[in-house]
Amino acid sequence: TMPILEQCFNLMDFEAVAKRVMKKSAWAYYSSGADDEITMRENHSAYHKIWFRPRILHNVEKVDLSTTMLGTKVDIPFYVTATALGKLGNPEGEVILTRGAKKHNVIQMIPTLASCSFDEIVDAKEGDQVQWLQLYVNKDRAITKRIIEHAEKRGCKGLFITVDAPQLGRREKDMRSKFSDVGSSIQNTGGDNVDRSQGAARAISSFIDPALQWSDIPWFLSVTKMPIILKGVQRVEDVLLAISAGVHGVVLSNHGGRQLDFARSGIEVLAEVMPELRRLGLQDKIEIYVDGGVRRATDIIKAMCLGAKGVGIGRPFLYAMSAYGLPGVDRAMQLLKDEMEMNMRLIGCSSIDQLGPEFVDTRGLSMH
Ligand code: FNR
Repeated sequence: TMPILEQCFNLMDFEAVAKRVMKKSAWAYYSSGADDEITMRENHSAYHKIWFRPRILHNVEKVDLSTTMLGTKVDIPFYVTATALGKLGNPEGEVILTRGAKKHNVIQMIPTLASCSFDEIVDAKEGDQVQWLQLYVNKDRAITKRIIEHAEKRGCKGLFITVDAPQLGRREKDMRSKFSDVGSSIQNTGGDNVDRSQGAARAISSFIDPALQWSDIPWFLSVTKMPIILKGVQRVEDVLLAISAGVHGVVLSNHGGRQLDFARSGIEVLAEVMPELRRLGLQDKIEIYVDGGVRRATDIIKAMCLGAKGVGIGRPFLYAMSAYGLPGVDRAMQLLKDEMEMNMRLIGCSSIDQLGPEFVDTRGLSMH
C-alpha cells in the first residue's frame, strides 16, 4: 500500500513513493542521468561537503525567507525549473506545477518540451503570478523567434536559453525502457518525426540547434525585452563571457546530471565563480542561479551563502506531482519552507540578505 501524503517528511520521501507508483518508463525518463550517473549523484552529495558556521544571539523570532529573482518578489529562494514531459507523471501535466507555484508564490519555468501546450500553462496562472520560459533553440530561427515573441506577449518574465544540450545526453535507463508513449506526451517540438528507439529524451530533441554559439546572443537580445539567462553554464570563464555578452543571468547547472557525465555540481562551480566575480568587482553585473541536487533547505541556504540569487529544483516536484498530484507539490514546497525557516534560525539569520560566505565552511570542496 502507498504511504499517505502526511507520511512524506522530506523531498526524498516523495522520490521513494514515486518510484513505487510510477509507470516504469516514466520513472526511467524522470530519474535517469547521463552515462554512469556520476554527476547526477554528485549534484546532491556536493552539498554534503559544505558545513555551517552558525552565529549565536541574534534575534531570529521572525524569519523572512522572501527575496527577488529578476525583479520578481518570491516567498522563498527557489523556483520550479523546467522539466520536460509532465504528463508522463500525471495526466494533468505541468499545470499542476503552475498551481503549486502560485500557492507558494514561487516562479515556474515553463519547458519548451512541456506536455501541456505553452498556452495551457500560461492560462493556468492566476493574478500576477510570474512564469519564465526555458528555450531550446530551434535550427529554424523563425520558429524560435515566434516562440520568444509569443512568450513575451503572454507575459513571461525571463528567457532561459539552455546551453548545455547541443546533443541530448545518453540516459541509458531511459533508452532501455524504449519509450512508447512519447508521441502523446509531447506538444511543442515543432513537428519532427520521432525516433523512439533511443528513449524519450532523444526522441524529442532532434530540432535543437547544435551550431548555437556566442555570436548568436546579440540576436536573442535584439528580439526580446525579456531578461536573458543562459542555463547550463559550468565554468567561470563562461560567466565572464556571459557578462560581456550582456545577458542578465546564468544558471550554473549540469542539467540534473543528464548531459555531460563528470560535469561538476552547480554548487561547486558557484564556489569557483563568486570569489572571482567579487575580485573583479562584477558580482552585481549578473544574477547567478544554481540547480541540481537541491533536496533540503540547507542546500538552498548554502547556495545563498555562496552568492546565488536562487536555486532551481526539478525532480522533487515531478515526483511529488506523480505520486500525489497538487497536494504532493503543495506539501513538498511547504516542507521546504518549514525546513528553511528552522535552519535560518539555527544559523542565526532572520532574512536572506544576511546570508553570506562567512556562514559556510567550504574547505571540503575541491576548490581548496
Ligand atoms: C530536465 N531538465 C531540463 N532542462 C532544460 O533546460 N530543458 C528541459 O527540457 C529539461 N527537461 C528535464 C526533464 C527531466 C525529467 C529532468 C529531471 C530535468 C533539467 C532541469 O531543468 C534541471 O537542470 C535539473 O532537473 C536540476 O536538477 P534536479 O533538481 O532535478 O536534481
